[in-house]
Amino acid sequence: MHVDLYERIWMGAAGAIIVVFLASMGYTTLGRAVQPPSHVETIDPASVRSDAEFGAPGVTVHEDGSATVVMQAFMFGFLPNEIRVPRGRDVTFRITSPDVIHGFQIVQTNANAMVVPGYVSQFTTRFDRAGEYLIVCNEYCGLGHHVMQGTLIVEDRPPLLRALPPEGGAP
Ligand code: CUA
Repeated sequence: MHVDLYERIWMGAAGAIIVVFLASMGYTTLGRAVQPPSHVETIDPASVRSDAEFGAPGVTVHEDGSATVVMQAFMFGFLPNEIRVPRGRDVTFRITSPDVIHGFQIVQTNANAMVVPGYVSQFTTRFDRAGEYLIVCNEYCGLGHHVMQGTLIVEDRPPLLRALPPEGGAP
């Protein structure tokens, strides 16, 4: 059977693309251990509100300037509703739900995770631009889904330094 030269080139290119896609999937899942955000640990949804960690959600800034954000995503809001994190530092989010599946998306950033009751969704990212960002739920979770939102404020100065008196001013 005669196959035209250009036809053979395109067939080879299409086959090569499939091989590259499969290889990159294999490399990221096996070699780089890419897993869904909910792979970290499990938690009983009924105990979220009384849990030592998730019952008292909030932001913790560590000595190296990185931060850990513990949050609840519930019907219909986020707890805490407003969070402040330092710019340009690793920020690790730990989120869980006491009720149904929610989404956690920080608009205009790459922070986006599904929050599944029974699991802790954890991921680490950085915010390079200071400012105010909208947090939305992007999984339909009930009649109040559209009002489920929060605010992320990325601060230029690490929150630890805010305790210092302003330069030149009286403390
Ligand atoms: Cu929570 Cu939609």
